[in-house]
Amino acid sequence: MNNRRPLIAGNWKMYKTCSEASETARHLVKLVADAKDVDIMIAPQFTALAPVSEVVKGSLVSLGGQNLFWEKEGAYTGEISAEMLIDAGCSHVIIGHSERRQYFGETDNTVNKKINSAIKGQLIPVFCVGETEKERESKDTFSVLDKQITKGLESFSSDQLEKLVVAYEPVWAIGTGKTATSDQAQEVHQFLRSMLEKIFGDSFSKTIRILYGGSVKPENIAELMAMPDIDGALVGGASLDAETFSKIVLFKTK
Ligand code: PGA
Repeated sequence: MNNRRPLIAGNWKMYKTCSEASETARHLVKLVADAKDVDIMIAPQFTALAPVSEVVKGSLVSLGGQNLFWEKEGAYTGEISAEMLIDAGCSHVIIGHSERRQYFGETDNTVNKKINSAIKGQLIPVFCVGETEKERESKDTFSVLDKQITKGLESFSSDQLEKLVVAYEPVWAIGTGKTATSDQAQEVHQFLRSMLEKIFGDSFSKTIRILYGGSVKPENIAELMAMPDIDGALVGGASLDAETFSKIVLFKTK
């Protein structure tokens, strides 16, 4: 047993208008009103953040951005800062999602800068790592993760990263319906925790939460959460429906 509090986070990606997002959030707030011993976060697209923050105010549901830029403000067309996310009601921000690495040129270096600005801005970074199918097949999973963690967290102290959340998302399991088996996920989570122990020490590695992401559903959450090093989930597709997502949040009570 450990005393890490589970976090179930929903990544709504580029789905839902403001009114759809508010409606889903309203429904979710009601469904999870009695949730216990779990943190809940949803990350709608940027234009829906402010309206959804009104809906989740005073509830158990926290709000996260899906990305940020590391400067405070300036001539950076199309970007958004940590301060702006906080202003829109966010407490969390997803950083380095594989879709951002794949389509928007995000690198370990930019991820590192973004984590830095999230911490400075008092946002909780949900830092995503994960290998592609090709990398897994060529047995490079651990070296890829080693690099993503080492570079992504380079030059931070354990105190700075106190609130960090790591999300292991094997790219081959995202949106594909192929979930890593709970044993496969546990193997990687254990590896990540031992890396964090090597870099930041024993007590840090014991308190940091490592989420699993990639085709998480109400049907597989219990098995994943039964693993000693899995502390929650980052959920894409199954978080878009309030009813389905609430079943993942409340998996213990079902
Ligand atoms: P998925 O996405 O649950 O739809 O596989 C997970 C994610 O991309 O965070």
